Amino acid sequence: MTAIRPEISSWIEESVLPRYDAFDKGHRRDHAQYVIGTALELSGHYDVDKEMIAVAAACHDLGLSVCRETHHLESGRIIRELTELRKWFSHGQIEIIAQAAEDHRASSQSEPRTIYGKIIAEADRQIIPDVVIRRTIQYGLKNYPEMDKEGHWQRTVEHLEQKYADGGYLRLWIPESSNAARLEELRRTIRDKAALRAVFEAVYKAEIYKDLLPKAKAILEGEDDMIAGMANLSALLHQAFHFWWTGFYRVSGKQLILGPFQGPLACTRIPYGRGVCGTAWARKEAIVVPDVEQFPGHIACSSESRSEIVVPVWKDEEIIAVLDIDSEKLGTFDETDREFLEETVTYL
Ligand code: SME
Repeated sequence: MTAIRPEISSWIEESVLPRYDAFDKGHRRDHAQYVIGTALELSGHYDVDKEMIAVAAACHDLGLSVCRETHHLESGRIIRELTELRKWFSHGQIEIIAQAAEDHRASSQSEPRTIYGKIIAEADRQIIPDVVIRRTIQYGLKNYPEMDKEGHWQRTVEHLEQKYADGGYLRLWIPESSNAARLEELRRTIRDKAALRAVFEAVYKAEIYKDLLPKAKAILEGEDDMIAGMANLSALLHQAFHFWWTGFYRVSGKQLILGPFQGPLACTRIPYGRGVCGTAWARKEAIVVPDVEQFPGHIACSSESRSEIVVPVWKDEEIIAVLDIDSEKLGTFDETDREFLEETVTYL
């Protein structure tokens, strides 16, 4: 492999990479370094000029300083204006470097004009199965806020199949790239609908909670009346997830008494240590019950309830209530629910 002239390496290090420090989190110096490393690695498979690859990779996102939407074109313009490059490269070489930056956009459907553009585009794109699935769901939630969960599931499957499945429109420019192996892994998940649904459930739930936390905080911050807070929090959670039953039981002496809730009628009093609610209170910790029939002493307020989570509400080192959520499906709740719900009840 031809070595890169030290003056080119130092120029990249000292004059190009620092420009990335001002960009967004996904496009900082580490991103440029990753693209340089990967592009050089991929270039080993082709008869290309390594110095041109290094410069194109180092400069491919410089246009972000101007405009995110057209940054690839701006990068090309900036490259053509970099006088240093004229010391090391011919006019024709600078043109190829600039075009490689212009062609690197992952969303671009047209093929990069040269192998340089293909290498930079491929190095810039990281097909990480979990990230692809998460971004697909995030995009749906942001752009189709009125859609329900099943709608989001359908949209997620359709998008993944159209773009990433066998015969999908995504094309890898460099078959030797590690993206090829990761794309194969993603394809396996897309084919296995049960596996894909499991990832979807986990990501979807976390995204809804992330959206809900600041809302809950804003609603509860200005209200010091517990009952009012519990009423609104149960409504917020119930509407976001369409649980079977969402509500509070408040501590009163040696028992829990029904508080604000959403859903069907419920038992009004639960003794200390009884049922899932009384046990969570006695154990002083949240309890996740994947199957209520397997929980000894579970109190069935409704025969529809199949799984449940109970989270204690603390005030001044004491439990003053529990948040109880029931689902008509098995295994609805997990550590994600526990974590987010424990956080939410601290806002009361
Ligand atoms: N299942 C709870 C009782 C409350 S209802 O589900 C609303 C328990 O076992 O404590």
